[in-house]
Amino acid sequence: MTQNQLRLGVNIDHVATVRNARGGAYPDPVRAAKLAEEAGADGITAHLREDRRHITDADIDGLMEALSVPLNFEMAATEEMQRIALRHKPHAVCIVPEKREERTTEGGLEVAREENRLAHFIAPLRDAGCRVSIFIAADQKQIEAAHRIGAEVIELHTGAYCDYHADGRFADRDRELEALREMSAYGASLGLEVHAGHGLTYDTVQPVAAFPEVKELNIGHFLIGEAVFRGLTPAVQEMRRLMDAAREQG
Ligand code: PXP
Repeated sequence: MTQNQLRLGVNIDHVATVRNARGGAYPDPVRAAKLAEEAGADGITAHLREDRRHITDADIDGLMEALSVPLNFEMAATEEMQRIALRHKPHAVCIVPEKREERTTEGGLEVAREENRLAHFIAPLRDAGCRVSIFIAADQKQIEAAHRIGAEVIELHTGAYCDYHADGRFADRDRELEALREMSAYGASLGLEVHAGHGLTYDTVQPVAAFPEVKELNIGHFLIGEAVFRGLTPAVQEMRRLMDAAREQG
């Protein structure tokens, strides 16, 4: 991989969603992760939610054992999740906000409001060798707080940008995209590694992939849905192709 190449993290949570709809053993998220890896994913992302609605503890065990690429373990800032992360010591830990009633991760983490607690929370994870990433909105105040608490990575929430695109609200979409562009440059200027993700599709990925400061995109729901139509391998390969093309064109 060249230095300028953008990494693709494939989130396999929703393979587990389909499995859990029937409560059986298939489709197996670990098998999906291995396929995604072979198709060009640079990492695998999995979110162990407090209510275990998709990924389970056994899935995390299986991923840690089977993967050759790094696991990005998404979790809420709770004691239980910290214990699990410290047991596995995954390559990366991404701290996300979590509400039981939400369908997906709706907003970024309010780091600025909880700076002290989060600084103490991430310190042992960093000491254990995990790269700690904080999932936040493209908001200068949150980026500065993430920097102050000692995070090495921020992941910027692209959900609003994608939702506006889907709703045809193009002026709002472009405003969000501009905020993502400015804040990825700002984050990088503070020495943070910048990632982005949530809601990205073939239609929305390229403008974000073109930002030179963004080093990794994490994409899940769309890819797993697309896999129903074209198979997981071609679905991942097409995302990879679009990302690389955007990166080359700048
Ligand atoms: N990044 C983070 C921090 C997330 O919480 C999620 C959703 O779990 C994603 C990326 C991937 O979002 P999507 O599944 O919409 O592609």
